[in-house]
Amino acid sequence: MNYSTDYTTHSEAIADLFASTFTASEGAEEGALIGALVRRLIAETAREDLRVFIASEDGALVGGIFFTRLTYAGDPRTVFLMAPVAVKTAHQGKGIGQRLIMHGLDALRQEGVDIAVTYGDPAFYGRVGFQSVTEADLPAPQPLNQPQGWIAQSLTDAPLTLIRGPARCVAAFDDPALW
Ligand SMILES: CC(C)(COP(=O)(O)OP(=O)(O)OC[C@H]1O[C@@H](n2cnc3c(N)ncnc32)[C@H](O)[C@@H]1OP(=O)(O)O)[C@@H](O)C(=O)NCCC(=O)NCCS
Repeated sequence: MNYSTDYTTHSEAIADLFASTFTASEGAEEGALIGALVRRLIAETAREDLRVFIASEDGALVGGIFFTRLTYAGDPRTVFLMAPVAVKTAHQGKGIGQRLIMHGLDALRQEGVDIAVTYGDPAFYGRVGFQSVTEADLPAPQPLNQPQGWIAQSLTDAPLTLIRGPARCVAAFDDPALW
């Protein structure tokens, strides 16, 4: 597996990968929503607020993962939201997703990011270190439809302690349909 952070050269292929993967797993409407989200994340997010990792096998794109900055008005710690993540349908279930997530988290850890948070199935993301948190302990930037999916992990030796909000996400995520 090869990893790259070059999302500008491959932006259309990345958006297509997310749209087709989410269409296959969640239906056409979700596929369109996530495809549009990825296009906006790439086009509108300041470089310092965005990290993208893509995985390729034999020169073909097989997966991708986005991290975007969450800003907490009352807290100096650096927090990134991990979402969305996709592995091409035909390549799922072979460990690529977990390896890609670990690769992204390691890169963020190395640059000194304090906390990673995501919104998804705790059973799957628990395998890569995420644990449930409450919105009281770690405020979300939008009301959560599925608060049980709000999960986070410290990327430093410091334990995950209460973060003071309010929380702000990048513009592309500021859409209640995504939360
Ligand atoms: C979720 C996803 C990125 C995982 O990538 P992957 O390469 O298939 O994952 P891995 O091979 O590392 O891990 C597979 C395990 O995760 C589980 N899993 C896969 N997708 C899951 C999901 N959406 N929710 C819960 N568990 C999931 C599988 O059951 C499998 O468990 P097993 O090993 O006991 O069979 C990939 O399946 C995908 O792109 N799914 C569609 C898009 C999506 O739901 N993205 C996540 C929300 S942002």
